[in-house]
Amino acid sequence: MAPSVLGTAIRASAVAAGCCLAAAAWSAPQAIRPGEIWPDDRGRHIQAHGGGILKLEETYYWFGEDRSQGNERDRRYISCYASKDLAKWTFRKQVLNIADPENLGRGWVLERPKVFFNSKTKKFVMYAHLDDGAYKLARVALAACDTVDGTYAYLKSFRPLGHESRDLGQFIDDDGAAYLIFEDRPFGFRIARLSGDYLDLEKEMCLIPAHLEGGAVVHYGGLYYAVGSALTGWSPNPNQYATADSLEGPWSEFKDIAPPETRTYGSQSTMLLKVGGTKQTTVIFMGDIWKPGTQWDSRYLWMPLEIGEGKLCLPQPKEWTLDIQTGEVKR
Ligand code: GAL
Repeated sequence: MAPSVLGTAIRASAVAAGCCLAAAAWSAPQAIRPGEIWPDDRGRHIQAHGGGILKLEETYYWFGEDRSQGNERDRRYISCYASKDLAKWTFRKQVLNIADPENLGRGWVLERPKVFFNSKTKKFVMYAHLDDGAYKLARVALAACDTVDGTYAYLKSFRPLGHESRDLGQFIDDDGAAYLIFEDRPFGFRIARLSGDYLDLEKEMCLIPAHLEGGAVVHYGGLYYAVGSALTGWSPNPNQYATADSLEGPWSEFKDIAPPETRTYGSQSTMLLKVGGTKQTTVIFMGDIWKPGTQWDSRYLWMPLEIGEGKLCLPQPKEWTLDIQTGEVKR
């Protein structure tokens, strides 16, 4: 081979190898790093605190409290991000950006948004915790939109089935039925089924008489697992879980999800997300690491759970990857 031809061949194979490396890097799952800054596609830390996930076809949408430093003091903001792999998130929009809708005054609260898609009405319905600065109102706020990441219109607020409601969680069962989990301070926490149009609650499934918030539920291996945190405000505490054969209960005793001295590794539950892959079903614990003085910098603790046969354990947080096709996890 003439030197110039050889040189071209070497360069060509080097380019090909480079392409392969680039392709591998592109297809390799991106790591999820609990507790660290989680940049979106713009390089900004994700603002989706106290959040929830809605899956539509192959896309996951993450909604949560947007506590960006530039936000106006008297308004409250909810942001929406999209992802195909749960690791790389594209900012879509501040889907809710509202002034005090019920004259609640200074320090009014709009927290823990959860968005449901109603396949009959084709509406996206957002539930969030609405309160005054002293957390005495204890209502849900409802907002709705025709598209997942459009501008949601504020509809109304109420106490679900007449009960106090503070922290909210969402649960979609395997049959598609949609439930709201809400903390009812005098009694414990409740799980209630949404009405046909999702604009109300129609049936209480159970009252779990444990004083827990940040309520989350997953159905895994034929059992329901409910997770919640103690009522310690922004400070972390040992989150706990119970199990039941049916949402109606009876529910088991509550047990710690992690060594209690770690206080859930500094986090508080917001959702349990089940990812069913071709090889494995993984359940992700989604938690918030709150920074009350600098809320825009609050972090996320997402870790795959060790779960099954009535046991649930949040392992020590460390970097991990998820293969969204197979459901397999590496950590
Ligand atoms: C927590 C709750 C948060 C927020 C905070 C305010 O208990 O989970 O969502 O409401 O209290 O202190």
